[in-house]
Amino acid sequence: MTLQAALAGDRPGPSCGSGLGQELARLTYRHQLPYAVHVRAYSIPQFGIDALSLIEKPDLQPGPGQALVAMKAWSLNYRDMLVIQGKYNPKMKLPMTPFSDGTGEVVAVGEGVTRVKPGDRVAGIFMQGWLAGDYRDEYGKTAMGGAIEGVLAEQVVLDAQGLVKLPGYLSFEEAATLPCAAVTAWDSVVTQGQIKAGDTILVLGSGGVSIFALQFARLHGARVIATTGSDAKIERLKALGADHVINYNSTPDWHKEVLKLTGGVDHVVEVGGAGTLVKSMMATRGGGRVSVIGNLSGLSTEVNVGMILHKFLTVKGIFVGSREMFESMLRGMELAHLKPVIDRVFGFEEVRQALDHMEKAAHFGKIVVARP
Ligand SMILES: NC(=O)c1ccc[n+]([C@@H]2O[C@H](COP(=O)([O-])OP(=O)(O)OC[C@H]3O[C@@H](n4cnc5c(N)ncnc54)[C@H](OP(=O)(O)O)[C@@H]3O)[C@@H](O)[C@H]2O)c1
Repeated sequence: MTLQAALAGDRPGPSCGSGLGQELARLTYRHQLPYAVHVRAYSIPQFGIDALSLIEKPDLQPGPGQALVAMKAWSLNYRDMLVIQGKYNPKMKLPMTPFSDGTGEVVAVGEGVTRVKPGDRVAGIFMQGWLAGDYRDEYGKTAMGGAIEGVLAEQVVLDAQGLVKLPGYLSFEEAATLPCAAVTAWDSVVTQGQIKAGDTILVLGSGGVSIFALQFARLHGARVIATTGSDAKIERLKALGADHVINYNSTPDWHKEVLKLTGGVDHVVEVGGAGTLVKSMMATRGGGRVSVIGNLSGLSTEVNVGMILHKFLTVKGIFVGSREMFESMLRGMELAHLKPVIDRVFGFEEVRQALDHMEKAAHFGKIVVARP
């Protein structure tokens, strides 16, 4: 199925080796595979981590404009957990393959593909249709592992336009952490946030998005205040460059502490949602910005509009980012040799354990799944 069809709202799926799809692929296939491939893929037949199953899919071939990617590594996002549990979209069509983030090597390309070639190391972009420019509603219909099929499979076929090439200094595991969390942090801090040296940024917790936001803020010469619910993570956040770290459990009025330290931050990377949004707004200086990204503590809360009005706040929703942002982020990261923080790497057969690990929230940085 073409990306255009996905943008039009159809349910997409890779070309597969049966019937008309196979015939079409045979006609258009440029680089024949040297061997028959049986692809293992994770599938959600019904909601719940226990229902997650490893199934075999027919071998894949790329259609026109598509690339076949042998996947090597994936990373988990909090969203993947919600998707699998049925909390992200209870009406989601099942079965489906989960996960938005993965990296691998191109093994074949279909007709007309010049953007990538066999042997290239690539990552899929989160919203396959959002290549550049401002967000538009139809891009949301191309979000992998949610609106469309995800990438938790040994091989996937993606539109070549929906891929970015990886810099050589990042391993497949490291680069697999980037498509959702890192691009979201880059969009928030750099593209929308227009960060500059000397700014002060507040990041909440030590999850994937927040640690990337911390790293990107430091990259631009900004001061970072971080919160965490765990004393054990305080030194690790400081080692990454946080100037001050506040434990939000032992200091429930952490926003007052932030105000004492800074007089009000320029920008909050707000991943907490209902339980933290108002405090985040209070911790921001007049004229500052709150990037609304996550809902770790719920979705719905009461907000006093007066605070936005009288403080001249910019309260801005963020939904990951475009391919253009991803590529700009990769250039910035490569120049600085900036490495993602990986908490732990699980095997391809250990995805349920990886999800359990995420659910316990004891991780620091990104949880990764990889295969040899
Ligand atoms: N809008 C978007 O495009 C976008 C993209 C990516 C993620 N998100 C959302 O952003 C949120 C974070 O995602 P993630 O992948 O970074 O999650 P994650 O890696 O699972 O990070 C979660 C961490 O946040 C901290 N935390 C948990 N509850 C908290 C609370 N009530 N207040 C402050 N910190 C809390 C904990 O760190 P400590 O142990 O240090 O406290 C926890 O380990 C999720 O809601 C996710 O759905 C949105």
